[in-house]
Amino acid sequence: MKILIPAILLLTSLSIHGQNRIGTGAVQELYEQHCLSCHGAGLDGGLGGSLLDSSDWKHVGKGKSFLEYVREGDLEAGMPSFKDGLSDKEIRSLEIYIDEVRQKTDRETTPIVQKEENVYTAGDYQFQVETVIEGLSTPWSIYFFTPEHALITEKAGDLRIWKSGQLSPPVDGTPKVDSRGQGGLLEVAAHPDYADNGWIYLGFSVGAEGTADPNARMTKVVRGRIADNCWIDEEVIFEVPAAFQTAAGVHFGTRFVFQDGYLYFSIGDRGAQDQAQDLTRPNGKVHRIYDDGRIPADNPFVDQSGAYASIWTYGNRNIQGLAAHPETGWIYATEHGPRGGDEINLIEKGLNYGWPVITHGMNYNGTPITEKTEAPGMEQPLLHWTPSIAVCGIDFYQGTDFPAWKHDLFVGGLASQELHRLRIDHDKVIEHEIVLKGEGRVRDVASGPDGYLYLVLNSPDRVVRLVSVR
Ligand code: HEC
Repeated sequence: MKILIPAILLLTSLSIHGQNRIGTGAVQELYEQHCLSCHGAGLDGGLGGSLLDSSDWKHVGKGKSFLEYVREGDLEAGMPSFKDGLSDKEIRSLEIYIDEVRQKTDRETTPIVQKEENVYTAGDYQFQVETVIEGLSTPWSIYFFTPEHALITEKAGDLRIWKSGQLSPPVDGTPKVDSRGQGGLLEVAAHPDYADNGWIYLGFSVGAEGTADPNARMTKVVRGRIADNCWIDEEVIFEVPAAFQTAAGVHFGTRFVFQDGYLYFSIGDRGAQDQAQDLTRPNGKVHRIYDDGRIPADNPFVDQSGAYASIWTYGNRNIQGLAAHPETGWIYATEHGPRGGDEINLIEKGLNYGWPVITHGMNYNGTPITEKTEAPGMEQPLLHWTPSIAVCGIDFYQGTDFPAWKHDLFVGGLASQELHRLRIDHDKVIEHEIVLKGEGRVRDVASGPDGYLYLVLNSPDRVVRLVSVR
């Protein structure tokens, strides 16, 4: 994998939002108790060597895993065995901790992006970030009809039309949503044959009728049309029965991909991690239905007794980015990891993506989840991020402003406030570069019909585009 290393230091700290957990919690106490005396408070060494540069390691990664090495130790060299003092899970959390601190330390000395006087340089391009739409409140998703006409969701429940530089008042009569926690009015997209049928699809979180628990909610999908700024002709496309509604305020997923008459969409694990492996549950999955809501007969689990028939893939923690490659049609997803282990996956029929049996992360408080990062029958991500960048919206670039980036995947990060460019060859990431940082939390990415790359940002809330400077 080629990592492009830019040359100018951008003084943006990692200590924003979620990333301020680095170096904290139970795992830090473990480190202090068991490793600090020899490897130093800053991991930069003492009696034992520095843990900041793994390329210096003689055994780990060279025929031995971190877990094996720390379990057994290297008594001759003076590295004790931790087989009796630490569980495998705890050793795994220390490995994640060392990755976190290493990256944080690297980033304090190595630049993340090149930016000078508001001009970014990435690869052969120089670009500026131009604000296009303001006056929004926590925008979540954008869908473009034309360069001058788009739909935007606001998390609290409003759908807005942006036309010829003007933002409409909230569209009247859109469905009621429950926007507590991470829920709300999330995804919007028009049907691929919108010109003929006028259908617009919305994905949001809401409780079902007849749910006894007022906190119980799940992702719901409807379609409708818009006339004179009113939402009309609504049809329910996907809704789970009351028994499947769950009470947590987190992990709704909710991104769409339309393809060949099907609608693919994600639902997060709803904070009930073990349910991601449970095929009788709709959460922690990617679903595939027809665009009118019917269940395709060739879905992978339709014939399995008790299974939720719309499931396409499972073991997915919280997918908030979903996009199909414009030429191959392969579907890719970004999945929020816990602390560490954000993922990008190639989404394929019936596969198990492993959460929470395997993960490259640990709990937010620094306690371990599992020592397992891989297992038979469970997919590995194409790429994973530790520390987490809080991956969110993605899109393949199809524009003309940056011709060399055509069909590269752009990935937004919330906590990291980063935009990553990935060149993907089927199931391999062959280039990975951070092109932008510090403009806001990147909620959604859209390749605009005018050839520019658009970003939906939160705090500050706005839609921007990258415009090349020649
Ligand atoms: C009593 C001192 C001591 C303690 C405590 C200790 N180490 Fe070490 N460690 C060493 C020494 C000495 C080496 C070998 C020389 C070197 O490469 O630093 C080593 C090497 C390592 C290496 C390098 C492996 C390689 O392939 O070269 C890792 C990783 C490591 N230790 C992790 C840990 C972790 C994690 C802990 C806490 C659970 C820990 N150590 C606790 C002394 C210690």
